[in-house]
Amino acid sequence: MSTLKIPRGLSLNRMVLLSLWILGGALSSSSVYADDGLMAPSWLGQTLKAADLAALTPIIFPSGKGLPAGQGTAEQGAVLYQSQCASCHGRKGEGGTAQELIGGQGPLSAPDADKTLLTYWPYATTLFDNIMRSMPPAAPGHLSADELYALCAYLLSENGLWDRRQPLAAKELAAIAMPNRNGFIRKYP
Ligand code: HEC
Repeated sequence: MSTLKIPRGLSLNRMVLLSLWILGGALSSSSVYADDGLMAPSWLGQTLKAADLAALTPIIFPSGKGLPAGQGTAEQGAVLYQSQCASCHGRKGEGGTAQELIGGQGPLSAPDADKTLLTYWPYATTLFDNIMRSMPPAAPGHLSADELYALCAYLLSENGLWDRRQPLAAKELAAIAMPNRNGFIRKYP
């Protein structure tokens, strides 16, 4: 009678898992991609062209680098907010099916800490970037630069960080000091 020799350190359970993993890898790397043109990662290994790069949504850095030209006021932002954001974030930004965007300044050390714009966002420029690339979820990337500045002006002024009568543009947005900016520990200084 032949016996199954299991390499030292490997239990039978682990052997079975290892075989399934190897089999799965072989299947997904050959037949699945070969049969399905949509999933084939045909672009892998190609150098990105300058035109491709230019077509991507720009990245806004914490310093404000990358912010487009434009400006907007809190008054304009309030109108946009009610028509495009309030259904999920609440009429007064108090939250609804999605997070609150106005208020909330409890300590982050609490076990169920409330991570709001006031406590968890070190840079106001990230707000612009985040709304630009992801909001509203049904049509991300459709807000103009002026509309984005107006929405930031509205949210920041309602949070007491901007004068609602002043138009907000790139320079001013980058200069806003979020209240908890120095409350973070840099893991990689
Ligand atoms: C259909 C619902 C919906 C609408 C409308 C919507 N959002 Fe959101 N929003 C969400 C959800 C869900 C999240 C959480 C996404 C996540 O965590 O990845 C979110 C997250 C955010 C965040 C990040 C909040 C945080 O503390 O992390 C901001 C800022 C934001 N939305 C702004 C807006 C603005 C401005 C508009 C209007 C232009 C808008 N949203 C419209 C559902 C919505």
